[in-house]
Amino acid sequence: MERCFKEYSEFVLSLPKEKGWATEFLYEYKGIWFQPKFGLQGLLWMQDHFKPKPTDIFLMTFPKCGTTWLKALLYTIVKRTQFHFSTHPLLTHNPHDLVPFLEIDLFGHPPFGDPDMMPSPRILASHFPYSLLPKPILDSPCKMVYICRDPKDTFVSLLHFYNKMRLKTDGRAPIPVEEAVDMFCRGITPRGSYWDFVLGYWRASLECPENLLFLKYEAMKEDALSQVKKLAEFLGYPFTKEEEEEEEEEENGVIQEIVKLCSFENLSNLQVNKTGSTVHNFVENKLYFRKGEIGDSKNHLTPDMMELIDKVTEEKLSGTGFTFHV
Ligand code: A3P
Repeated sequence: MERCFKEYSEFVLSLPKEKGWATEFLYEYKGIWFQPKFGLQGLLWMQDHFKPKPTDIFLMTFPKCGTTWLKALLYTIVKRTQFHFSTHPLLTHNPHDLVPFLEIDLFGHPPFGDPDMMPSPRILASHFPYSLLPKPILDSPCKMVYICRDPKDTFVSLLHFYNKMRLKTDGRAPIPVEEAVDMFCRGITPRGSYWDFVLGYWRASLECPENLLFLKYEAMKEDALSQVKKLAEFLGYPFTKEEEEEEEEEENGVIQEIVKLCSFENLSNLQVNKTGSTVHNFVENKLYFRKGEIGDSKNHLTPDMMELIDKVTEEKLSGTGFTFHV
């Protein structure tokens, strides 16, 4: 494995590069920009070696669109009969430690965890663009959940996160916001163009609605309860009649408990998420919880910047039938 990983890293370093966000450079592979470590190397390794199981559940996201939230929800919904809410693993573990990323954790270097040792159903996450998903995943009957978010809010969340990571990686100064808007609009972002990424999954969800559930962050924020029910049904873990009745009769029915446990307010205030760290012990857990709001971009972008991102959104979505509106 060691020799094979060295070959991947040498290959990545031979690709066209651009100035990066968290890492010094981004590398272009098949028209999409990637960070070398915690990104493309793991993706290539995974493409060659990962074997999906029919019961696998995949969470696919572009960074900063609600991955942490969905990891918590998927884990809680699927494993709800195994744990009591008062002693739930989420109270002491960050969601990223319970639901690993394929290309970062399981196929990162060194790998953190062995996918073959995970109990079924495996809940796995990835920031893989749809166009690069390995064929065995596409051919398997597994369930896939995707969540998108308003482009301006995604951008602001990305910028905050990657600027913190820049500082931590090698003490580099933050990327000026104007420069970052320009890179974002040109698709020079880790995992490439945000709009292309979203459209890839959206189109796939229209083709295979039974395998791919497409969610919106804003819809989750507006009505988490009904979205959680939809998720549970899609995953093949629908709430029972008793659970639904309990929900109607009690203020704290199981669906309500799941929503509360996984809420921004609850998770961000847990000790583990205030002080711990994850992803090879490098990312502080608190960085995954900033504000968790809709529309925070207006507090960080000038009207011109907002207009620029809106213009790209309009151009990219024109004729597709897709809209970010809920
Ligand atoms: P903001 O930076 O806008 O606050 P990801 O999990 O994909 O890295 O996305 C991180 C974004 O989701 C951050 O957005 C973070 O605050 C928000 N987030 C994290 N946990 C959340 C939760 N339980 N509910 C809603 N938003 C959450």
